[in-house]
Amino acid sequence: MAKVHVLHGPNLDLLGEREPETYGHQSLDSIDQELVALGRNLGLVVETLQSNHEGQLVDAVHEAARSADALLINAAGYTHTSVAIRDAVAAARARIAVLEVHLSIPEAREVFRQVSLLAGVVDGRIEGLGSLSYGLALRAASELLRARGVLRDQ
Ligand code: DQA
Repeated sequence: MAKVHVLHGPNLDLLGEREPETYGHQSLDSIDQELVALGRNLGLVVETLQSNHEGQLVDAVHEAARSADALLINAAGYTHTSVAIRDAVAAARARIAVLEVHLSIPEAREVFRQVSLLAGVVDGRIEGLGSLSYGLALRAASELLRARGVLRDQ
């Protein structure tokens, strides 16, 4: 079965309690469970990881490139600062599909959020739809994998 890794960056472990007016009331655990269930329906094995540490996220991007067929990444605050994560994603994208995900619309917020270092090295971005952004990104990944012949009708 095709495999999709989902990476969540810093502070996303606090989803549900952190600025719910911006990020919603759903916990990360619950989002992850929904993604695993949706993945099953789409014929995908979904594995999720959250980290507050830049180096661990870089390692996890490398791991996805080695062992998954697609990566969904919400690098959270590192989206706007991390050349290291960008470089890892650029390398991964040579092998697998990579989609950038955000709960909010960073471009509509503070100036420091208006640049994504990842935007230039991903296959696509889904943002602004709260936790729905993740589910839509997973559906997009399944379409990309189907178009690339990695995922076939069951
Ligand atoms: C975020 C947007 C980032 O600017 C912010 O630092 C986050 C979450 C989002 O999902 O909307 O932590 O990536």
